[in-house]
Amino acid sequence: MLTSITITRPDDWHLHLRDGEQLRAVLPHTAKQFARAIIMPNLKPPVVTTEMALAYRARILAALPVALQDHFEPLMTLYLTDNTPSSEIIRAKESAVIHGVKLYPAGATTNSDAGVTDIAKCYNTLAAMERNNLPLLVHGEVTDTDVDVFDREKVFIDRILIPLIRHFPGLRIVFEHVTTRDAVQFVTEVSERIAATITAHHLLLNRNAIFQGGIRPHHYCLPVLKREMHRQALLEAATSGNSKFFLGTDSAPHAQMSKENACGCAGIFTAHAAIEFYAAAFEQAGALNKLEAFASFHGADFYQLPRNTSSITLKKESWIIPERFDYSGEQLIPLYAGTPLNWKLV
Ligand code: NCD
Ligand code: ZN
Repeated sequence: MLTSITITRPDDWHLHLRDGEQLRAVLPHTAKQFARAIIMPNLKPPVVTTEMALAYRARILAALPVALQDHFEPLMTLYLTDNTPSSEIIRAKESAVIHGVKLYPAGATTNSDAGVTDIAKCYNTLAAMERNNLPLLVHGEVTDTDVDVFDREKVFIDRILIPLIRHFPGLRIVFEHVTTRDAVQFVTEVSERIAATITAHHLLLNRNAIFQGGIRPHHYCLPVLKREMHRQALLEAATSGNSKFFLGTDSAPHAQMSKENACGCAGIFTAHAAIEFYAAAFEQAGALNKLEAFASFHGADFYQLPRNTSSITLKKESWIIPERFDYSGEQLIPLYAGTPLNWKLV
């Protein structure tokens, strides 16, 4: 039996770090395991300019605990709006620290009110991104209230993504946190310029987890968990060795009171044990030998960044995930709080 694995240090290609005290609370969890992370820009107010992204980056670096300084690099993103000027894309590219522009359809998820109301309004900006080789990162769900919540990803592919790719064949796109067999199939078959991130929670859980013995707010995220057949398709994609699929936790912390609420926030916090969760999922699929490429190679290659040279080791050892973490005077309930996990970062 395998008792430990050592892999090239991984990167997290989709992460919510928040800001201020909350940033300080969650950042060490990520920085202890990942070398780099793509930092989502959905702050309040959103990170819409290069200047704001540079300031946010400085706050992240300043929030790193001393022991982790120089060991973690935040890869910044801009938040696309209806009015992002092309000149901002050029500034972003020239900054050399902004690695993507995030499309949130307005109203699709947490802090997306300033998002895009009509993709056609962004065509000039998208053309500038295509010219400047700056990837578009998409939250791939339509927001139309007449579309079933469980179908919003599939409908996004048909209504938004396919026309977008036709219009901008040179634009590199990351279809973030794919959750359906439809998305997996689409990404697999479409051009080399399109890749996808997959979260640990979508590999480990299907939608039953939201309703297990009662409503489970800590299993609520967007895109919402899907049927078992979709989880199986995600597992297959993640463990296939196909370089279009790579790790992106979408770890999205919310205070306990915002989750356990009559209108609870979407987002699952997984940063406390992210790589261990992926290891558990890959092990279940009998594919631990595919973890390194998924976690440490494919994303770097897609983003045209060097692969990391340091490594991490995971031990086969049962440990209990803490019930809660401090979150700026509030509590943060992590995924699988209080339950055992079989892999442990050394
Ligand atoms: C994210 C958040 O809380 O910022 N929530 C989530 O459920 N994933 C936003 C997002 O990525 O959709
Ligand atoms: Zn996210």
